[in-house]
This record gives sequence, C-alpha cells and structure tokens, in this order.
Amino acid sequence: MRRPYDKFVVLILIGGCMLALSSWNITQQDKGQGVLLEIYERLMRAERRGEALTYKLLQLLEHLQNLNTSINSSEKWLEKRPVLHILSSQPNAFLYLPHLKEHVDSLKPNIYLSQGRSEVSLVLGIPTVRRQKESYLVNTVNSLLYDLTPEQKSEILIIIFVAETDSAFVSSVAEKIKQNFPDDVSSGLIEVISPSPYYYPNFTNLKETFGDSKDRVKWRTKQNLDYSFLMLYAQHKGVYYIQLEDDIVAKSGYTENIKAHVQEVIGQQWLYLEFSQLGFIGKLFRTSDLPTIVEFFLMFHKDKPIDWLLDHILWVKVCNPEKDSKHCSKEKDNMKRTFKPSLFQHVGLHSSLPGKIQKLKDKDFGKQVLFKAHANPAAVLSTTLKHYQSHSLERAYRGEDFFWALTPVRGDNIFITFTKPQSVKRYLFRSGNIETNGDKFYNTTVEVLPSDASVRQQVEEGLLQCCKPSTDGFAVIGSFVNGVAEGVMDTALRELSAIRLLIHSDSDVWVLLSEIFIKV
Ligand SMILES: *[C@@H]1O[C@H](CO)[C@@H](O)[C@H](O)[C@H]1NC(C)=O
Ligand SMILES: *[C@@H]1O[C@H](CO)[C@@H](O)[C@H](O)[C@H]1NC(C)=O
Repeated sequence: MRRPYDKFVVLILIGGCMLALSSWNITQQDKGQGVLLEIYERLMRAERRGEALTYKLLQLLEHLQNLNTSINSSEKWLEKRPVLHILSSQPNAFLYLPHLKEHVDSLKPNIYLSQGRSEVSLVLGIPTVRRQKESYLVNTVNSLLYDLTPEQKSEILIIIFVAETDSAFVSSVAEKIKQNFPDDVSSGLIEVISPSPYYYPNFTNLKETFGDSKDRVKWRTKQNLDYSFLMLYAQHKGVYYIQLEDDIVAKSGYTENIKAHVQEVIGQQWLYLEFSQLGFIGKLFRTSDLPTIVEFFLMFHKDKPIDWLLDHILWVKVCNPEKDSKHCSKEKDNMKRTFKPSLFQHVGLHSSLPGKIQKLKDKDFGKQVLFKAHANPAAVLSTTLKHYQSHSLERAYRGEDFFWALTPVRGDNIFITFTKPQSVKRYLFRSGNIETNGDKFYNTTVEVLPSDASVRQQVEEGLLQCCKPSTDGFAVIGSFVNGVAEGVMDTALRELSAIRLLIHSDSDVWVLLSEIFIKV
C-alpha cells in the first residue's frame, strides 16, 4: 500500500482545528492583536499535539516494518533514508496561505497517473503549465528516458506536476503521457498529478515589486506555490529530489553522473547540488531538506522569485552580516556545489509566461553526441523520405551525422543496395536520439533481398524459418520495436544484394536514424 497522504491527513487535522479557531475569532476581531496572538499560540499547541500524534503513529509503523524485514529492495544511493522526517516537519502552510483553511483538502493532490512508486534514489520533479505556443513536455520526458537501462529506470521516479486546475486539461496531458510512454506509466516510473482547485489564492491583489509587472508578479508567485506543492508531494518518494522544467534536454548518462557526484559529497555539508546554471533547473536537494526549503518559499511566496529565495536561504544559513560579500559568496559556494558540464539544457523559446521570450541557454552544457558512427559496406542509398537540412541518409550511413526526415507516410522506404553482394552477420537501426527521442520508426519492417536466385525461391515458397516473403521478392527479417530494429542474419539467406526499411502506416512525427550498422 502507498501512503502518499499521511502529511495531508495531518494537515487536515490541523486545518480542522484552525477552522474552529478562526470562526470563533470573527466576532472578536476588534480586540485586535491580543486575540490574534492567543489564536496563534493555540494553533501552535494544536499543531504540536498533531505532530506528537504523528510521531506515535510513525513509531508504530516503523515497529511493524521492523517485524517484517524480509523485504529489502536494492541498494539505494548510500545516504540512509530518513523515515521520520516525512511528517515531523510539515511547513506551516496554513499560516502563509490562510485561504487553505476554507477547504480541508486544499493541499491534497489530484492524482491522474501513479502506481505509488516510492523509496527511489532520485525523484525528478517536472512542473508544467498550459502554453500558448508549443509544448515540449513529451520531448523532455523522452530525453530523460533515452538510453536509461531498466536498472536505472528502477532507481528513479518522474513526477509531472500539471500546475493547472482545469481537470479536462490535466486529463489531456495525462492521456498524452500515457499514449507516449505506456510501459513507463504502467511500471510506475512516471506520475502525473495536479493541485487541488482550492490550492491557489486569489492572485488579483498582489503587490508589484522589483519593477515586475502585475502579470509577472502573478506568474512568479504562482511558480513559488507550484514548486512548493510539487516538493511537498515528492518528499515522501525518495532520497534525493531534482528540480527540472518541462522544456529541457538531458545529457546522455545524466543519472550516472548525478549519482557519482552525490557520492562524492556524501557526508559533507551542502544544501543543494547544481547540475545546470539556469534559474532553478537541475538543482538537487535531499528530500529531508525539502520541508524547510518549502516553508521558506511559502513564507515569502509573494515577495520574490523562487531562484532569489533559494539564494536567500543560503544567505540566511551561512552569511555573516558583519563580514563582507566576498566572505558571503565563499560560504554560499560551500553550501551549493556546482558541477560542470551541465546536465540539462533549456530548449523552450517560449516561456510559460505568455509573451516572455526565454532565450537563456546554459553555456556549460556543451555539445552532445547525437548519433553513433559505424563502418558500413559500400552501397548505393535511396529513399522516398525528404531529409531535413543536411541530415541526409548518405551522411548517416557514412557515420558523419544522423538521418532526419519529414513525416513518413505508408509505403515510404529506405533502400540500401550493396555495390557487391555481402554476407551480413548482424544489423542495427536505432531511431531517435537524446534530443529528439520521439522521432522513431513505427510499424516499419526490415527486409532483405538475397542475391542468390535459389534462396529467393526458397523465401518465396516459405521454406526458410528465418523470414516471411514480402509481395515483391524480399524476405521480411524483422521490425522496429520501441524505435530499434536489430538482429542476427540467418546464414540460410547467404549473400545479400540489398536491405530495405519499409514503413507500413502514416506517422504523426518525423523520423530520425541515429545509428545504422550493417556488420559483414
Ligand atoms: C479576487 O479578488 C478580487 C478583488 O478583491 C475580486 O474582485 C475577485 O472576485 C476575486 N476573485 C475570486 C475568484 O474570488
Ligand atoms: C501496420 O500497418 C498495416 C498496414 O497498413 C496495418 O494493417 C497495421 O494495423 C499497422 N499496425 C500498427 C501496429 O499500426
């Protein structure tokens, strides 16, 4: 059983107390400060009682778990997962967001997709909102999942937080995620949640500060609340939490890279690790630190943008007002560790704030490899697909680039005709790459033409176990599964004159081949 709601249950209890206290308050408002103070103190007492109760429950739970020690999942990333932090340090959300008192479940998430996965090493939080222009969300998730092994997938959880209260819209996002990542949704690797409709306050009366327009103040205030909500939900789920955005590209091997750096600083003092230079992207926290951080964000959610607030937390923690700014910077650098090169790059041009063009790119991301070169036998290539810019089939075949072509329709094909017959041992066609992982071949077969007429005859008559005959003399030897077609060539086929890829249905997306390997 999963227990994602424990914290909310406690909040509901506390909320109940507060509701009672605040209605009692209404007629006595004019008595002013004294009454408020008394209410505050009562609230604190009630909250402490709630916490004590929570502790008792947790101890009981731990006791039960100890009795049942047989289940011990794989080694997590070294730091011991604190069990008791989960409910003991609930931020005082009701103090900073008094409107939450009006609805008991205003902090409860709406869960659209989840298998209740928890106890992972790394939780990846992706907040997303409705955009007027393109949405990059599916590409972002594609990039995060590209080249992860099943083992690496089992160590992470991706939480997509749709920061909208229109349930039809959130459902459509969840549906799209399910369509694009059916296996990763059913394994519980990807979750989609949204906030309660009662979570957001009335944003109309915000004070304009720091030269920010009304719209911008609203946007940055909502962002503070969105990140806080997501972090509160994520804190139960794993040991570390990394903040991402919905318009990024990940660097190949990013999970291993993060793991290595986390192990490097184990046992040292730090508040966060920085895996991107941009705003709040790629900031990694211990989940046990999240309650404090969220409390700080909520306390000042109307005052400043979230990246400033994060910097202020460092300031509060380590800067000495009697020393100079150089000392402060040094101390802060010690609490946030920056790792280069960056592991996440921003791709969105249109920010989630309408009209704001987001051109920031991370200088430290560098270039990444988008194709893999192989030595292939000499051949004449032809295709019905139209390639984009210089990403031609010839260059891909020679190992100089990837092949990238406009949306295929049924019947499109790629022909590789060998200049002399070849005895092929293995073949591999990999579609998509880490930046464009969605551009795969779907419903596409790999077919070969044996050069020997007697072998062609055997194929035609269905005498070979390896393959089925096509309608035009080719032998169908395989097809693309999850964007990859690979296999060992049956020796019964002997030498081949040609290999072709044949597309059987119209596609919704472009196609990209990042790897072509014909081993002879
Ligand atoms: C928000 O506050 C403004 C001004 O106080 C009010 O006019 C508006 O109706 C409120 N909106 C909601 C949704 O309560
Ligand atoms: C593949 O294409 C064939 C022929 O157009 C079609 O009958 C079949 O349903 C398609 N399969 C999938 C999985 O789309």
